[in-house]
Amino acid sequence: MKGVTVRQAEDRDLTLILEIYNEAVLNSTATFDTEPRTMDAHREWAQQFQPPFVLLVAEQAGQIVGWACLHPFGAKPGYRYTTEDSVYVRSDRRAGGVGRLLLQALVEYGRTAGFRTIIARIAGDNPASVRLHQSLGFARIGLEREVGYKFGRWLDVVVMQRMLSEANEAPA
Ligand SMILES: CC(C)(COP(=O)(O)OP(=O)(O)OC[C@H]1O[C@@H](n2cnc3c(N)ncnc32)[C@H](O)[C@@H]1OP(=O)(O)O)[C@@H](O)C(=O)NCCC(=O)NCCS
Repeated sequence: MKGVTVRQAEDRDLTLILEIYNEAVLNSTATFDTEPRTMDAHREWAQQFQPPFVLLVAEQAGQIVGWACLHPFGAKPGYRYTTEDSVYVRSDRRAGGVGRLLLQALVEYGRTAGFRTIIARIAGDNPASVRLHQSLGFARIGLEREVGYKFGRWLDVVVMQRMLSEANEAPA
């Protein structure tokens, strides 16, 4: 995409990442958080992004227009080759290819980092996110029915998955 670059997030990006996230908390069912996240909680959340996990930002003309991350799937050591993704694009920049650029970068990073597979848990009725993940090779593998409740509605979670290495290939 013209003029949009993806790079690893730095401390100075945390405020704008939080702004994008909290807009989605208040106005969408993309996340089951119901109250805006505080800066203190956000800083704590950001500490999980030590390798092999990663927090990326999409930047255009010095502005953060989206962010995406690979975070732990499960705390138990047997899950260490599996990761889960999140992608958030600034509301005025959606449907313009930024999400695709970010998810593509996550898939490449995830493969290089040695993950076996990426899971996406897509909350609410979110055709944009389902389409985004489909277009990057994620397959729908399940549906958790009515596990969320927000804005007075019961909400499903669609589970999607992308494999990153071949069957029977041992971890690096
Ligand atoms: C979901 C989200 C990350 C997608 O990013 P985006 O930059 O808007 O999407 P892109 O422009 O890169 O489009 C990616 C694909 O989704 C499709 N898409 C985009 N917006 C869509 C919409 N509103 N409805 C249906 N499909 C849509 C595009 O056509 C494209 O498909 P293609 O590759 O087959 O052409 C973004 O809309 C967003 O931040 N939404 C709010 C937060 C959120 O829902 N995050 C995901 C949590 S799981």
